[in-house]
Amino acid sequence: MASIRFEKVSKNFGKVNVIKDVDLEIRDKEFMVLVGPSGCGKSTLLRMIAGLEEISSGQLWIADKIVNDLPPKDRDIAIVFQNYALYPHMTAYDNLAFCLKISGLDKKTIREKVMEAAHILEIEPLLDRKPKAMSGGQRQRVAIGRAIVRNPKVFLFDEPLSNLDAKLRGQMRLEIARLHQKLQTTVVYVTHDQVEAMTLGDRIAVINKGEIQQIDTPYNLYNHPKNRFVAGFIGSPPMNFVEGAIGKGENGLFFKDKSNALVAQLGKRQALEAYIGKEITMGIRPEHIHARPEKDRSNYASFEADIQLVERLGYESFAFAQLQDVQFTARLSADEAVDPPCKMTLWIDLEKIHFFDNETGEVVSN
Ligand SMILES: Nc1ncnc2c1ncn2[C@@H]1O[C@H](COP(=O)(O)OP(=O)(O)O)[C@@H](O)[C@H]1O
Ligand SMILES: [Mg+2]
Repeated sequence: MASIRFEKVSKNFGKVNVIKDVDLEIRDKEFMVLVGPSGCGKSTLLRMIAGLEEISSGQLWIADKIVNDLPPKDRDIAIVFQNYALYPHMTAYDNLAFCLKISGLDKKTIREKVMEAAHILEIEPLLDRKPKAMSGGQRQRVAIGRAIVRNPKVFLFDEPLSNLDAKLRGQMRLEIARLHQKLQTTVVYVTHDQVEAMTLGDRIAVINKGEIQQIDTPYNLYNHPKNRFVAGFIGSPPMNFVEGAIGKGENGLFFKDKSNALVAQLGKRQALEAYIGKEITMGIRPEHIHARPEKDRSNYASFEADIQLVERLGYESFAFAQLQDVQFTARLSADEAVDPPCKMTLWIDLEKIHFFDNETGEVVSN
């Protein structure tokens, strides 16, 4: 069992600084997801934990030890990669047994450990097969099995499901969650897929350009994003952003978009006082824009939208609308009669809007 702690960790490749002053604590037995766009530094962070990448500055702790200079083999960590990295000439059994043989265990103990891992992953029928005779999902299970047999303190996963098709990805996601419940081990899981991040993580660290943007529970990332990057990255389809300004009128503060097509009465909002007369960006998720009010109308800002296209998914629909030059997505119920192109009044739930400072991108108030 082990916690992991990054303290002001940076990493340079030559002159390029790819990890910037990262502070991150991963608790014992926690399932921590690192998520962010391609190239943001997720794999580099993971490889530093494994000892496969040197740390340029700062300290990395595992349990109560600084491990900056500890070789990978002494870290008691197992890593599962996207491309499985199985030995192609060995059977699944031998792939699982290999590192145990090297560590000098006797045959009987090896067999027990391999069979136990095979049982957990339900891969007993595959043990005689070589990787080329297995599907992608089966190979990935064997790769995970190879990590399990070592009974490591920490499991690292680097986009383990990216090579699988959508259905299998969903299945394996559940299996990995179950595995974590069963093994009760610290997991650090890297993905660029925010659905994987949201469904698997106890907590999620959102990363952009080598910097941590927010470390939080899935619920808080979705409901209380700290900045515009997190707000736009978490959620699918993404949050809508509308540029405008804050004004003050008879009924208190209001937000007006640049085209004056949308006016939202805000009443009293302390944090927004400083923005009166200034530009600001409003954020609203597609699921918080409705075809009709569900409560008192004063809780909404309505606007006339040009609906250009509707995607029908059976259980819900996405309406793609235009508000002057701003593209909008609204998530509507499946039985909503919309026949684009058409005009439609849409209702923005004012309890669900976010504001972001145009210069810093930081959230202003909720
Ligand atoms: N060995 C390396 N040499 C030089 N640059 C590297 C090396 N490994 C990664 N990088 C760069 O570091 C950045 C972060 O890479 P990586 O951690 O692989 O991102 P991610 O896993 O989030 O896609 C990228 O810009 C990448 O090009
Ligand atoms: Mg990567």
